[in-house]
Amino acid sequence: MPQKPVQPAQPGVQQLPRHVAIIMDGNGRWAKSRSLPRPMGHREGVKAVRRVVEACRQRGIEALTLFAFSSENWRRPKTEVSLLMDLFVHTIKKEVEHLHRNGVRMCFIGDRSVFEPHMRALMESAERQTADNKQLSLVIAVNYGGRWDIAEAARRLAAKAVAGEIRAEDIDSDRLGQELSGADLPEPDLFIRTGGEQRISNYLLWQLAYTELYFTELLWPDFDDAALDEALQSFAGRQRRFGRTGDQIEQSRRA
Ligand code: FPP
Repeated sequence: MPQKPVQPAQPGVQQLPRHVAIIMDGNGRWAKSRSLPRPMGHREGVKAVRRVVEACRQRGIEALTLFAFSSENWRRPKTEVSLLMDLFVHTIKKEVEHLHRNGVRMCFIGDRSVFEPHMRALMESAERQTADNKQLSLVIAVNYGGRWDIAEAARRLAAKAVAGEIRAEDIDSDRLGQELSGADLPEPDLFIRTGGEQRISNYLLWQLAYTELYFTELLWPDFDDAALDEALQSFAGRQRRFGRTGDQIEQSRRA
């Protein structure tokens, strides 16, 4: 079934993003700059995840999507991939109770088919346990790629068309958008990438079409409440136009 359409973001200046999406980059460099092994950077990165989840919840942000492992991260050395998987499993097991008590709903996006059954079961159990929580939706992207997401949506629509459930001519961007990961959430209003690189790296490609982009040199383990507030302040100073002119936005604000 297609998801219920979510109220789209309105043009103009918004004080607070409803949905923040983050690429947490710079763990390796954080460790290297301290002559520590890379895994220490990832472990420190988990502490930053904890801080930012809590900060988003406190500030009333509705959804936070974190890019934990991309479909391209399998290209890393085997030992690092295995460490990241262990850290992921360990962190979910350790944090789910605390997140649940704090009203956080957890969900995972990405291709789960490659994961061991125990990992899939862990994700499903965390999703089930926290499904009714309303304080913050924490979306964790694992083995996720934006192109995979779009291709999956297209494949599902094609299957429905072949089965006669929909007509090919009824497929439009709204209909395709409803098949994508996170279609039950507003699209990200603010995208943050730490670590100094300025690219999207196959993250939520479709969903970021009108998202405000924010890049910081800070390495992910150094990202804290103050850094989040700086990003939020930058967002609050932006006028979102969605193709309209600035004058049109001003006029509709005054009306
Ligand atoms: C990028 O830094 C970071 C990652 C590929 C992994 C991020 C994952 C975590 C912080 C754990 C998240 C866990 C949960 C449960 C959300 P990098 O290694 O590319 O850094 P570099 O560019 O400095 O080498």
